[in-house]
Amino acid sequence: MKLKNLLLAAGLGATLVLGACGSDDSSSSDTSKDESTMSDDSSKTETAVDAEKIFANNCASCHGNNLEGNVGPNLTKVGSKYSSEEIQKIIKNGKGQMPAGILKDDKEIVAVADWLAEKK
Ligand code: HEC
Repeated sequence: MKLKNLLLAAGLGATLVLGACGSDDSSSSDTSKDESTMSDDSSKTETAVDAEKIFANNCASCHGNNLEGNVGPNLTKVGSKYSSEEIQKIIKNGKGQMPAGILKDDKEIVAVADWLAEKK
C-alpha cells in the first residue's frame, strides 16, 4: 500500500514535470501565434485594398470619378452587363481603346472588378 502511494506521488511529480514542459510548449506556441498575427496583418492589408481608390487612381481618368464616363464608356451600370470575372478579363486584356495591364496586382483587379460588378 505504502509503495503504491509512493508510486502515486512519483506519478504526480512526473505530471508536474510534464506540466512544466507543457508550459514551455505553450510559450513556444506563443511565438507561432506571433507568426500568425503577422499573417493576420498581411491579410489586413489585403482587406485594405480599396477598390474605389484603385479606380480613382487608375481608371477614373478615362471612366470618370463617378463612373460617368469620359474617354471610356460610362460604367455606372456595368454590373448588369458584365460579371466580375468578365470585368477582370477586360482589366487584364484591355478592350478597344482601353490599354491592357493597367492593374498588375490580381488582388486589385479582383477588388475593382467585384466593386464594378455591383454597379447595376
Ligand atoms: C486610357 C483610358 C482608359 C483607362 C485608363 C481605363 N479604361 Fe476602361 N475602357 C476605356 C475605353 C476606351 C473602353 C471602351 C472599349 C471598347 O469597348 O472599345 C473601356 C472599357 C471598359 C470596360 C467595358 C465597358 C463596357 O461597357 O463595355 C470596363 C469594365 C472598363 N473599361 C473598366 C476599366 C477599369 C476597371 C479601369 C481601371 C483599372 C479602366 N477601365 C481603365 C478606356 C480606359
